Amino acid sequence: MRRRLILLLMLVVAPTAWSSDFDVDDDGVVAPLTDGLLVLRHFFGFTGTALTEGALGANATNTTAEMVQAHINSRPNRFDLDGDGLHQPLTDGLLLLRLLFGFTDEALTQGALGDHATRRTSNRILGHIESELNISLKRLEQYADQTRPSYITKDNTDASNPITDAGATLGRVLFYDPSLSRTDSLSCSACHQQANAFSDQNIASIGINGTTSRHSMRLINSRFSDERRFFWDERATSLEAQTTQPIQDHIEMGFSGADGDPSLADLINKLAAIDRYPALFTLAFGDSAITEPRLQSALAQFIRSIESFDAPYDVGRANHRDNQDFDNFTAAENRGKRLFMAPPNDGGAGCAGCHRPPEFDIDPNTRNNGVINAIDGGTDLTNTRSPSLRDLVNPAGVPNGGLMHNGAFESLEAVIEHYNRIPEDNDRLDQRLRRPGGGLQRLNFSEAQKTDLVEFLKTLTGSAVYTDPRWSDPFAL
Ligand code: HEC
Ligand code: HEC
Repeated sequence: MRRRLILLLMLVVAPTAWSSDFDVDDDGVVAPLTDGLLVLRHFFGFTGTALTEGALGANATNTTAEMVQAHINSRPNRFDLDGDGLHQPLTDGLLLLRLLFGFTDEALTQGALGDHATRRTSNRILGHIESELNISLKRLEQYADQTRPSYITKDNTDASNPITDAGATLGRVLFYDPSLSRTDSLSCSACHQQANAFSDQNIASIGINGTTSRHSMRLINSRFSDERRFFWDERATSLEAQTTQPIQDHIEMGFSGADGDPSLADLINKLAAIDRYPALFTLAFGDSAITEPRLQSALAQFIRSIESFDAPYDVGRANHRDNQDFDNFTAAENRGKRLFMAPPNDGGAGCAGCHRPPEFDIDPNTRNNGVINAIDGGTDLTNTRSPSLRDLVNPAGVPNGGLMHNGAFESLEAVIEHYNRIPEDNDRLDQRLRRPGGGLQRLNFSEAQKTDLVEFLKTLTGSAVYTDPRWSDPFAL
């Protein structure tokens, strides 16, 4: 066991061409000795002493290996990566190398583990690390443990798919990978752009085979709603179920399995042949199998991780209830907030009844809101879901794309005009947009009141989510 452990150490510290993203200590020098050992510290929990007096020290000997092994042995469970009840530096340690460095089975059996382990082996292995991704697998971004305000309580996460850092990291790579389209030309992010709160300035988004029949939706705080169904018409029964639908859509990404398109099984084979995926799936799920449920889990974890809670509204809400004025708000913003919160029979606009603060998620029982024109002509009464009203506009006040399922409203003012005067009736219009006793909602707001409401809606925009590297394109180096 000891000899093999030393072999493992030698492999990791063998001098070779390390890629620059393995400059773990950021000293500008990619040194297998210091950087490689830092990796060991991070993943095996080597203490400073074990490193300085042991592995790194002038007198590194077999004793070092014993120290290291004792250290690993002192932390049962943590290193039982294969779940066999044993924590073995050999199998578990090499499994870790497989995860981190993308060792293939062949590299393990004939290389690192085999009788002929040589410098070439380690070069081959390290070649895998040369990654086209702007992601540190050693120091994963924090997706699971994010701090959020205590007043945020709604959560549509299914118990079977909690966010993990590794799962959301995989989801991020998938989200930005054009390989998910038949033509290798278009990723989820083509229609859900970070700079537009993960929506699109095009009214109809451009897919590989034409344009979408509804407007793209912002993916901000998607996790924080009572509504568990997704899409404007709520046809997806969960976020997980939603995520592979665009992939299987002939117009959007083209793995429909019909009309001459390849199928989702073809996509899975395609991904399995791309170096990074076996390693990333192993990191997220424990082995390299790629399945539709795993694609869904990872993509959903990434989307649920996209949080925006640094808006002016949050600054005020931290110390006040929604029915109190916020002291960080202007007079107009506070007036607009009162209009948003109060029902029409109390002089308000009734928005909060359907877009419920503090998440501003849609009431699951809402029917349509009277916006009934489909993008490509005709009538569409099926749209009963809205994304959270947070980040309707960007930090500069510019709308993150057209509003509503048809993207027809280019400004917040146009939205307010719609609710001020619901234009026409339909048999699926929400009762709350009719007047008691019949007739359509007429708020009869003054221009000043409309402006106040717009000012309030703008306070729901955050800033970090537009630039945070966690949600950015990992292929952009
Ligand atoms: C060609 C453009 C396009 C691509 C590519 C695309 N989407 Fe979308 N996305 C849309 C449109 C349009 C909608 C609204 C469609 C509808 O409701 O009928 C939408 C809706 C969604 C929603 C629902 C949000 C909500 O609040 O209900 C999610 C989640 C989503 N997309 C995730 C993804 C993921 C994940 C991918 C990649 C696997 C992806 N999208 C690829 C255009 C696109
Ligand atoms: C009866 C429920 C209901 C009420 C009341 C209501 N809405 Fe909506 N709202 C919806 C529904 C449903 C949608 C999605 C409809 C669609 O796109 O066709 C929506 C969509 C929106 C959108 C577009 C969101 C996006 O992502 O494009 C905005 C903005 C909006 N509402 C603001 C308001 C404001 C402001 C008020 C108050 C003046 C209000 N709503 C009142 C149900 C309601």
